[in-house]
Amino acid sequence: MIDQPLRRRTFLEKCIVRGLLVGAAAVSQSHLLAVWEEAQAKARKPTPPEVLGPFFKKGAPHHVNLRVPREPGMPLRISGKILDSRGEPVHDARIDLWHADYRGVYDVLGYRYRSNLRLENAAEYAVETIMPGHYPSRPAQHVHYLITAPGCQPLVTQLYFATDPFFEGDPDGNYQKQGIVHNRECIRPVTLLDENTSPRSAVSFDLILEKA
Ligand SMILES: [Fe+2]
Repeated sequence: MIDQPLRRRTFLEKCIVRGLLVGAAAVSQSHLLAVWEEAQAKARKPTPPEVLGPFFKKGAPHHVNLRVPREPGMPLRISGKILDSRGEPVHDARIDLWHADYRGVYDVLGYRYRSNLRLENAAEYAVETIMPGHYPSRPAQHVHYLITAPGCQPLVTQLYFATDPFFEGDPDGNYQKQGIVHNRECIRPVTLLDENTSPRSAVSFDLILEKA
């Protein structure tokens, strides 16, 4: 694997010398290298897919505040960018997002803790909700996503939390426990915000879509 900038640059220079990397227009070698490396640096690995699960429900409201007044649960803000695998912003995405309540129970009759976000011209999202609970058949806290966007392949994935006791403080070593989580990248660190004795948590989860 070529993973260090100098080695990568040396490798690319050899490609130019051998005619394996050629500029379509008359450009200098240094410009050709700069363009190539800039594009490579922006490239992002697509967000791994996860299962849809049995609790998806169409018709969720388009709200960004999913909290239910007077219901317990650690307040949680989830935010992120929507990009394609070249690192370019993706606009006009639709994001269905749903999760269990603090007890680990999904609302299958109504739309508690469910949202259908319409991002219009934006390429980032944010919702205010609570940390989901655990439920016996999938005992890792998670948030489900279904994302569609013009020019991109639909993505079904899930967000997990590095602080979840399920991972026993070691997401790297334990993420494959019980075969629930398939991709370490979907487990995100949690930031705890303690504002005047009112703690809140926050997680960043970018959504990287593959081009259609
Ligand atoms: Fe679930």
